[in-house]
Amino acid sequence: MAPSGDGTWFDAERGKRVAAALLAWYDKHHRDLPWRIPPRDLAAGSRTDPYRVWLSEIMLQQTTVEAVKPYFLTFIERWPTVSDLAAADSDDIMKAWAGLGYYSRARNLKTCAEVIENVHDGAFPNTETGLLALPGIGPYTAAAIAAIAFDRPAAVVDGNVERVFTRLAAIATPLPKAKSEIKDLVALAVPLNRPGDFAQATMDLGATICTPRRPKCLMCPVRDECLALRQGDPEHYPVKAAKAEKPLRRGAAFVAIHDGAIFLRKREAKGLLGGMAEVPSTGWTSRTDGELVPGAAPFAAKWENSGSISHVFTHFALELTVFRAEIERKPVENGGWWTPLEDIHTQALPTVMKKAIEAAIPGSTKARAKEKSR
Ligand code: ADE
Repeated sequence: MAPSGDGTWFDAERGKRVAAALLAWYDKHHRDLPWRIPPRDLAAGSRTDPYRVWLSEIMLQQTTVEAVKPYFLTFIERWPTVSDLAAADSDDIMKAWAGLGYYSRARNLKTCAEVIENVHDGAFPNTETGLLALPGIGPYTAAAIAAIAFDRPAAVVDGNVERVFTRLAAIATPLPKAKSEIKDLVALAVPLNRPGDFAQATMDLGATICTPRRPKCLMCPVRDECLALRQGDPEHYPVKAAKAEKPLRRGAAFVAIHDGAIFLRKREAKGLLGGMAEVPSTGWTSRTDGELVPGAAPFAAKWENSGSISHVFTHFALELTVFRAEIERKPVENGGWWTPLEDIHTQALPTVMKKAIEAAIPGSTKARAKEKSR
């Protein structure tokens, strides 16, 4: 009978074998990523820049590696050091971040860069505890920077690492409850000599081999150590607690057009999408009656319904009914500004707002993206 995940399978010896096999695999099959120093260059003495690790890790909390690459390269070109970022204009940072989502992270970037510049003389703290004290840096990011940039034997656990380790040890406890169990196992495996490469090797394995669906177990360098594979159903792991459905909120958004320009304003600094640009909208509430009429529009005009768009935030799903109106005379600025449609891409517009504008003026937010990809 196959052994079970009773906690005896994954011990320190197995941890060592897993680390050795993962590192050998990483030496050959690591992904080339713009923030990463490849293992042969590290071995030849290249140093990892903590600023690049920090910036990439904060961005990678939002989305996929492929989506992050162009954002990362833009930031690095524009603000090559943490001191440059500390001195940057907040609005410019928000604009460069627009589209990545979770905008409080962008605000925290600047605050964190300022603390590093002003309190730490421009140098990142080189321990997990020191890093954890910085604004916007939580346990995952502190561990990742400590391991990747400073060779500290920190246990770095992101979603990929969770999947790899729950499979290796066939952890039946559902996530998120299993988190501390997983961290303990990762800590058993972290090698003292190459903790940063080990963390990234595990992430790469999770992204390319130990995938959520149809893992490529035949190609896996640690298949002999994997209890889930022995049991015959790696996809069963990680076990996840049932998710509560997200509540639905609704609102209306108003796209006012005058002479090829649209009316934008800035959201309150605090709160969801704080400090970002928006087209005027009603409050976003769970009410489904009454609220969506153009009564809340910024100007009296002939508002026409352009359909609705949906967007899913961390804590709720939003459905916005979009209204558009051509306005003959440019109204008083009303706390906002007019942006020519061809300059839309220069504005700090979150994705939900781009969707609303796109519904009102099809093609308007995509033109520039096409131009770029040519
Ligand atoms: N996901 C988060 N951080 C990563 C890294 N450093 N390398 C690859 N994937 C990642």
